[in-house]
Amino acid sequence: MNTRLQVLLTGLALLCASTAPAQQAWPTRPITLVVPFAAGGPTDVVARTLAGSMSKTLGQTVVIEQKLGAGGTVAGAYVARSAPDGYTFFIHHNGMATSAALYRKLSYNPLTDFEFVSQAVDVPMTLLARKDFPANNMQEMIAYVKANQSKINLANAGLGAVSQLCGMLLERALGVKLTAVPFQGTAPAMNALLGGQVDILCDQTTQTIPQIKAGNVKFYGVTTRNRIRALPDAPTLQESGLRDFEVLVWHGIYAPKGTPRFIIERMNAAVIAALKDPDVVRRMADLGAEIAPDSKLSPEGLQTWLKAEIDKWGPIIRSVGTFAD
Ligand code: MLT
Repeated sequence: MNTRLQVLLTGLALLCASTAPAQQAWPTRPITLVVPFAAGGPTDVVARTLAGSMSKTLGQTVVIEQKLGAGGTVAGAYVARSAPDGYTFFIHHNGMATSAALYRKLSYNPLTDFEFVSQAVDVPMTLLARKDFPANNMQEMIAYVKANQSKINLANAGLGAVSQLCGMLLERALGVKLTAVPFQGTAPAMNALLGGQVDILCDQTTQTIPQIKAGNVKFYGVTTRNRIRALPDAPTLQESGLRDFEVLVWHGIYAPKGTPRFIIERMNAAVIAALKDPDVVRRMADLGAEIAPDSKLSPEGLQTWLKAEIDKWGPIIRSVGTFAD
């Protein structure tokens, strides 16, 4: 063997020796999954359902940590600044895309400040009102809201929340402006709706199905293009006359930029294993959530999807003109 080849082989052996143990050593302690909205709400439910199964695959607990505020952007900024060591991840929904247009001074770039792990589930939304709201179906709701807009308030989870996006699209479709009442998640917003302190809430089935089934709220329809399996008798808002009205909530998992690729790949595999776990599949189906299609489950699939969502919602948000600093 000539000397150059020997040096090359020794170098390769050293490289393998120095990278292999580091790769095998992850994870050696609990992993944090940051949730940007209140505990007990839709994002938290998805995160905890996945985390339980992922902990088994990864051999370390995936701990949920709430970082609340500003429609999910406090959490986004926190994760963007976190160490890229494989112990901090972030779950967020469409807000990762809409915040880019809603905030004039977002302190992070959703496309360049994160590594992309995977998507997880798609969740329909439902349009609800407090139980004693004086409209019993979508036609009455439209008429009542148009006639009484100055008196009606609309709960949401802040600028960047899907409840805010859905409410904004409702206002646009009906040509009205309602009073927004922001919460740090739709879990407290739902409590306020149940207590009659707010009038209307557009929220995800992952939280609303039990309340709808128990008859605790007025329910007008689903925000998806087609009716959904979990609420087969419920009309879509499109069927009720809101042309082109469609919101489907998608969830992505991210890591701080620079997190090593082998960690991203192992997290991706753990998410995919969770999405195949029969307990997760059953729970998601009960809550109206659909496992995301395979095309969205790779890091590249999420990245491409996020870019398309930023391109889709940016012009709509700018045309409505709702902004924060
Ligand atoms: C939540 O988890 O509270 C919701 O996802 C907030 C929202 O975006 O409406």
